[in-house]
Amino acid sequence: MLQREVASFEIRDLGGALGAEIIGLDLASPLDGPTRSAIRDAFLEHQILAIRDQDLDIEAQVAFSLQFGPLERHVISNRNAPHPLVHIVTNLDADGRPSGSLQSTTWHSDKSFRPEPSMATILHARQLPPAGGETCFADMYGAYDSLPAETRAEIDDLRVVHSYALGRARMGVSVSEAERRDAPDTIHPLARIHPDTGRRALFMGDHAHHIEGWQVETGRALIERLQAHATQECFVYRHEWRPGDVLMWDNRCLLHRVEQNFDAARHARVLHRTCLRGTAPA
Ligand code: SIN
Repeated sequence: MLQREVASFEIRDLGGALGAEIIGLDLASPLDGPTRSAIRDAFLEHQILAIRDQDLDIEAQVAFSLQFGPLERHVISNRNAPHPLVHIVTNLDADGRPSGSLQSTTWHSDKSFRPEPSMATILHARQLPPAGGETCFADMYGAYDSLPAETRAEIDDLRVVHSYALGRARMGVSVSEAERRDAPDTIHPLARIHPDTGRRALFMGDHAHHIEGWQVETGRALIERLQAHATQECFVYRHEWRPGDVLMWDNRCLLHRVEQNFDAARHARVLHRTCLRGTAPA
């Protein structure tokens, strides 16, 4: 369904609660004011934008991203990329061969462990497997809105300790002292108010570890219950990548993860990622 035409490009919704595609736009050139506003409005309305048919090198991706705000640095272990503000999401080993290992397969919101977690992630497909490797998104507005009123009242004032180190430890990975210093624990509301839309959204994911002031295990049980609710199929959009896609999504109201449903020891999956810095959640 055609939603809107701005200048020479189209914004079409993807048919579900989440997502729109943009066709006919060239992100390699600087955007004019009305185009930037149209992208921003569509981003807030649909939470995920798939901008089709792009071919951006790293510098061009950085230049496109910077038109929407400052970029966020990555954790120490990701800073060996060809650009300090670009993270190469890849399953290739040092020799350029598929390694069999895939990152980001569990639900998270990018950099939720930072005092100012990412507003948006911009991910550009460079090499894709023949099928599978979708990025899945769960709608945290919908998940919050569908909770019973008494549950919403119980959780509205709770705050969550987000911890890079504890999140990694839960996955069996220990972090170095330097990584711990680079990403100290931080505390955010469990149901944050989106600074642009004013809507409440659950804010959880891999790094959301326990509830401030609660026994760790009790807090973990609540977070896990809410996350199981929030990631039910009815809240999920599954993005099937096309070559050239640039995906831009709102980390303030979504969780995401990659689907591990292709042979990562056989097929390459390489994407370039930039993250726009957000504000402290309220
Ligand atoms: C990410 O978590 O930012 C990457 C998701 C993906 O690889 O699809």
